[in-house]
Amino acid sequence: MIDLRSDTVTKPTPEMRRAMAEAEVGDDVYGEDPTVNRLQEKAAELFGKEAALFVPTGSMGNQIAVKLHTRPGDEVVIEERGHIFNYEMGLPAIAAGVMMRPVRAARGDGMLTWPEIEAALHVNQPYYACPTGLICLENTHNFGGGSVLSADETNEICENAHRLRLPVHLDGARIFNSAVAQFETVANLSMSCDSVQFCLSKGLGAPAGSMLLGRKDFIDEARVWRKRLGGGMRQIGILAAAGLIALEESPKRLHIDHENARRLAEGVAGLKGVRVDAEKVQTNIVIFDITGTGQTSAEICAKLKEKDIHAIPFGPAIRMVTHCDVTRGDVETTLAAMKKILT
Ligand SMILES: Cc1ncc(COP(=O)(O)O)c(C=O)c1O
Repeated sequence: MIDLRSDTVTKPTPEMRRAMAEAEVGDDVYGEDPTVNRLQEKAAELFGKEAALFVPTGSMGNQIAVKLHTRPGDEVVIEERGHIFNYEMGLPAIAAGVMMRPVRAARGDGMLTWPEIEAALHVNQPYYACPTGLICLENTHNFGGGSVLSADETNEICENAHRLRLPVHLDGARIFNSAVAQFETVANLSMSCDSVQFCLSKGLGAPAGSMLLGRKDFIDEARVWRKRLGGGMRQIGILAAAGLIALEESPKRLHIDHENARRLAEGVAGLKGVRVDAEKVQTNIVIFDITGTGQTSAEICAKLKEKDIHAIPFGPAIRMVTHCDVTRGDVETTLAAMKKILT
């Protein structure tokens, strides 16, 4: 099976499984799991933030941040294809009582500029406007095709937001992919953001878990909300042990996923009816338009599935994601299958 549906499908490495079996554990709700504590300290140090919290999922990390930065009735400005808005089950409305203000990015890669954000803000406006409480960024941008936001672009947005006393949360589910692609550090990419969430369970290959980072008082409050949302996980050092290896080892090999994604993009770009700019594929996500093939994305994905190759139809496009369980050989096999399907 070649599974290109997402980088969430990765299986833990033998080293992770060994570390999980041998992990020292304690009750993390009491703050007594030494492996979780080590993971949190390590993550905070890597990102240059005061504190970090291990949460079960990226969605929970993001949603706790939305809750803590806002008050009910606030608006949250986000790019219209952002994960927090589209794929987190409407929790901003349920848990935080906020409205989302989706904004279309002129750039095809889903990255908003400060002028685009500024035009959507309600700050110091008369009482009939819903006040803006938070700006959310996403780096890499999943549905923007794994695109990256630079440290300078992030800093510009944050500086302007802070001038208006607005906090910025970064959904950095794949921030390590962004850092590797730009030869940057995750600390520089998130330095000016008030909070950041990243996933251990995606390109980094851990079986589950995400980290939420920010100031110490913010993380203390986040711990309360994690428990309130049912995320107090007790002897969870068994997962944190895999997370520690993901953090230490996996970034070193992400460039391979990026090279494979670029090769995949270059290969499909040469097929009749497929549209994708391979030059713009910077990380591990390839989204290509198949409108010109005369087939639907669902039809093409169904034919790939018959060959045990799995990808996700996305309206008039198909998404393929490379990760540690996809080899260069798998990429070539996929390209050969695509060629057959489209000729
Ligand atoms: C950009 C982005 N943010 C957040 C998440 C949520 O992560 P989780 O599936 O762990 O809730 C995802 C998951 O695919 C994602 O792509």
